[in-house]
Amino acid sequence: KIIVLDFGSQYNQLITRRIREFGIYSELLSHKLTAAEIKEMAPKGIILSGGSNSVYDEGSFDVDPEIFNLGIPVLGICYGMQIMAHELGGKVENANNKEYGKALIQVTDDQVPTFKNLPAEQTVWMSHGDLVTEVPEGFVSTATSANCPISAMANNSKKFYGLQFHPEVRNTEYGNDILRHFAIDVCEARTNWSMNDFIDLQIAKIREQVGDDQVLLGLSGGVDSSVVGVLLHKAIGDQLTCIFVDHGLLRKNEAQLVMDSLAGKFGLNIIKVDAQKRFLDKLAGVSDPEKKRKIIGNEFIQVFNDEAIKLKGVKWLAQGTLYTDVIESGTDTAQTIKSHHNVGGLPEDMVFKLIEPLNTLFKDEVRDLGEKLEMPHELVWRQPFPGPGLGIRVIGEITEDKLEIVRESDAILREVIAQHGLDKEIWQYFTVLPGIRSVGVMGDGRTYDYTVGIRAVTSIDGMTADFAKIPWDVLQEISVRIVNEVDHVNRIVYDITSKPPSTIEWE
Ligand code: XMP
Repeated sequence: KIIVLDFGSQYNQLITRRIREFGIYSELLSHKLTAAEIKEMAPKGIILSGGSNSVYDEGSFDVDPEIFNLGIPVLGICYGMQIMAHELGGKVENANNKEYGKALIQVTDDQVPTFKNLPAEQTVWMSHGDLVTEVPEGFVSTATSANCPISAMANNSKKFYGLQFHPEVRNTEYGNDILRHFAIDVCEARTNWSMNDFIDLQIAKIREQVGDDQVLLGLSGGVDSSVVGVLLHKAIGDQLTCIFVDHGLLRKNEAQLVMDSLAGKFGLNIIKVDAQKRFLDKLAGVSDPEKKRKIIGNEFIQVFNDEAIKLKGVKWLAQGTLYTDVIESGTDTAQTIKSHHNVGGLPEDMVFKLIEPLNTLFKDEVRDLGEKLEMPHELVWRQPFPGPGLGIRVIGEITEDKLEIVRESDAILREVIAQHGLDKEIWQYFTVLPGIRSVGVMGDGRTYDYTVGIRAVTSIDGMTADFAKIPWDVLQEISVRIVNEVDHVNRIVYDITSKPPSTIEWE
């Protein structure tokens, strides 16, 4: 494997991704690791990531200088190159102008393995305030640009390389080639990491970790917890018990899909709790969105705990934590903060140890894993769905009648979108019931019925979103079918706001 030491750059996860895409296992780890700890892991290569510190600042992130004596190839990117220069006796200074964006570099040494067989002139992505002004002894400058005379440096005999630009960013024209040259030609890492290996390794690891203990998993019906369930079941079979809370706010047939496939096809031991009434009772008369969210969240934990307490001798709680969650809480502290944890409100003596088998994977890798485990497509490729479910898609007070309208109209929307093959390109799509009624005419009679809103967005991560430009004829088909097939609906509107200023959900 190749390890990436994290100095805080916003691009650091991308480096890990790129290396994994070559079939080489890669992890993003704390820059505080000592050389001894790294030696123990025996990586084929070390990458020092970018970061926003200045090497000469008090308290800036540094690295154990002994890593340069391990005989392992090192690639320093941006801040990583600067720290390499600084530690090995070169000079780093503040640039007169910060450089941010595309730049043109001229490769001055095409014999250096990282630039092998690549054109002399390349567009790269720069983002830095400091730069290396003198290379350390044993190094040569290997590329240059107008604003950054030493854009890259190399010490071939020690296999140390520095890049002032970011090869992991797609705007760097040959970035992927440069990374591949480092990983494969310089580090000679084997390209044998695959999802099938991951499954075998994890199964062995899970068995060793839990032994004969019992494990508990909360299933939400979402991708992550479902994949964890199937993987754990493969590893420890009936030592796994799942609790699946049906709060009545799931989409049409969703609970059934989860039960049919996970309990039915895969044979997971699932306790399904039908808590619809409990939730509806608690929500009766409440129309404030934040209050609704809180009630749903708290009730969920209550129901889960009520069931968990009935189980005897459970030692482990499994969670579908992803690598991004781990990284977001910081590569220095994430492991220790999360290693001992409890579900809110369980008795003190019911302390679980956590097991998180997906915590080295990215979201699309989890989907890939789900496919390899032969899970149904609908589960693996599910669009994002909020925890409070349809509860925040019935605007204002929730009643069973209103939930029914949202559930049925949403099912029609999903069906038509899928029929037209738009389900992969639209990131999220659903219906909402704003609760207004308006006048219509059906047959010979006047109606006074509900309006249903359609929300469909394209997005990368949900942080920002554009409304999807669904073709008119598809919208028309959705509109006609909902009005014809769902009782008490006589009008359809399409939400044409982006996020910001709107949010994706209406509550
Ligand atoms: P908004 O409405 O904030 O939603 O633009 C962004 C994304 O987050 C989802 N969402 C939630 N997911 N629990 C969740 O797990 C929640 O309470 C929640 N609220 C919103 C929303 O569906 C969208 O994908």
